[in-house]
Amino acid sequence: MRHILALLALVITLGTVWHLISVDKDIDALGKVEEIFRKSDLLVELGKKSASSGAMSGGSAPLTSIDSSSALVEDDKKSEVDDKLKALREKAGNVGAFKVSQLYKSKCASCHGVNGEGGIGPKVIGQSYEKVSTELMAFKKGDKKNYVMYGLLQNLSDEDLDILAKEIAEFEQRAKALEK
Ligand code: HEC
Repeated sequence: MRHILALLALVITLGTVWHLISVDKDIDALGKVEEIFRKSDLLVELGKKSASSGAMSGGSAPLTSIDSSSALVEDDKKSEVDDKLKALREKAGNVGAFKVSQLYKSKCASCHGVNGEGGIGPKVIGQSYEKVSTELMAFKKGDKKNYVMYGLLQNLSDEDLDILAKEIAEFEQRAKALEK
C-alpha cells in the first residue's frame, strides 16, 4: 500500500515538473508572450509607463516592442467597444430606431409597429408607395374588405393617406440610414 502511494506521489511530482517545464517553454515562445501581454491589463499599464519613460529617454529597442503590443491591446479594446456599440444600435433598432410622423405614430403604429415592422397588422416596412397607397384607397373605399382598416381610414383624408403612403415607402431607407 505504501509503495503504491509513494509511486503515485512520484508520478504526480514528475507530472507537475513536466507540466512546469512545458509551460516554461510556452512562455518562452515569442507569440505566447505577445498573447499574454495582450490579455494582461497589468502588463499594458506597465508597457504604457515604460513606453512614456522610454519616450523621455529617447526610446530603446525592447521598449518599442512593448509599445507595439500595447497598441495591439488598444486596437482590441477599440474593436470590442465598436462591437458593443453595434449591438446596442441593433437592439435600439428593435425598439423604434428611426423617427416617424405623429400621424403614423398615433393612427398606425399600434397595429403596424413603431417602425412598420408589423404586429396586429401586417409588416409595412419595405412596401412601395404605389402598393401602400393602392391598399389604403381600397380599404377606404371598401373595395378591400377589412373592418379595422375601413373604419379607421374613414377619419383620414385622401391627402393624409397619400402622406402616410409616402412616409411608409421611406421606412426602409430610414432604417438603412441608421445602420450606417
Ligand atoms: C387596429 C389595427 C390597425 C391600425 C390602427 C391600422 N391598421 Fe393597417 N392593417 C391592419 C390589419 C389587420 C391589416 C390586414 C388587413 C387585410 O389584409 O385584410 C392591415 C393592412 C394594412 C395595409 C396593407 C398591408 C399588406 O401588406 O396587405 C396597409 C398598407 C396598412 N394597413 C396601412 C395602415 C396605415 C397607414 C395605418 C394608419 C393610418 C394603419 N394601417 C392602421 C390593422 C391596422
